[in-house]
Amino acid sequence: MLPILVRQNVRNPAPLKVLSRASSWWSNVEMGPPDPIIGVTEAFKKDQNPKKINLGVGAYRDDNGKPYVLPSVKKAEELLASKNLDKEYAAIHGIPEFCKAACNLALGEGNAWVQEGLNATAQGISGTGSLRIGAAFLEKFFPGNKEVYLPTPSWGNHAPIFKHSGVPTKQYRYYDANTCGFDFKGALEDIAKIPEKSIILLHACAHNPTGVDPKPDQWAELSKVIKDRKLFPFFDMAYQGFATGDIDRDAQAVRLFLKEGHKIALAQSFAKNLGLYGE
Ligand SMILES: Cc1ncc(COP(=O)(O)O)c(C=O)c1O
Repeated sequence: MLPILVRQNVRNPAPLKVLSRASSWWSNVEMGPPDPIIGVTEAFKKDQNPKKINLGVGAYRDDNGKPYVLPSVKKAEELLASKNLDKEYAAIHGIPEFCKAACNLALGEGNAWVQEGLNATAQGISGTGSLRIGAAFLEKFFPGNKEVYLPTPSWGNHAPIFKHSGVPTKQYRYYDANTCGFDFKGALEDIAKIPEKSIILLHACAHNPTGVDPKPDQWAELSKVIKDRKLFPFFDMAYQGFATGDIDRDAQAVRLFLKEGHKIALAQSFAKNLGLYGE
């Protein structure tokens, strides 16, 4: 939490928002752009149609359109409560058992990388926080061209996250509006021209916002081109299990790249697949 304290007249309290904007320190702060997804929810609330469906934020709902907590999550919460945990600080990189379990979920139980300790895993604040930490790490330590190439289109927050971390963004072709499918040829052509030793962002599965993923043989081809260009793949896996319904199949691109000898970064999120949006 980062509280920005603004002196307030206690007898005549003006809203903090007004005070903070008028203060000479913060008057240069621009208003962020409105979130289009929240706009969909607002429109949904206003709509009187009884058959309306909210296609804004992708979150589990029951048959009455109410938030739904998975039975597995409820069970895990009960287990945690029964353990009477002590709320002590975690290690600086997170809870080691959690990091290991998360990595095993992505790479497969018994995978060689975790077994041989080849991974460096840190716990972040969900997918967004992990992307931010990854981007900041690359900005500081990446030895190559500190530019990240994003698919067109990509999740709306990718560009700001990287830009705010000091990593400029560029694009490669991804979606073909004519076929509503993956622009494999366009992607290969663009990737083959990316300057060597740059960073490329890949959606591991269930590409957001298009829902269009490369097929397994296309991933194999992409892996080859990315290796030829000596690019560093940064996978964003926010939907493991959502694309095919199978947690292992959805991780196949990440696992393939590792088998092919790539060194990768991977940001994972459990917000969507476990319905843990607020945690
Ligand atoms: C592609 C992609 N990456 C990352 C995230 C962020 O996930 P989280 O909600 O865990 O921060 C999302 C969430 O919508 C997403 O769609």
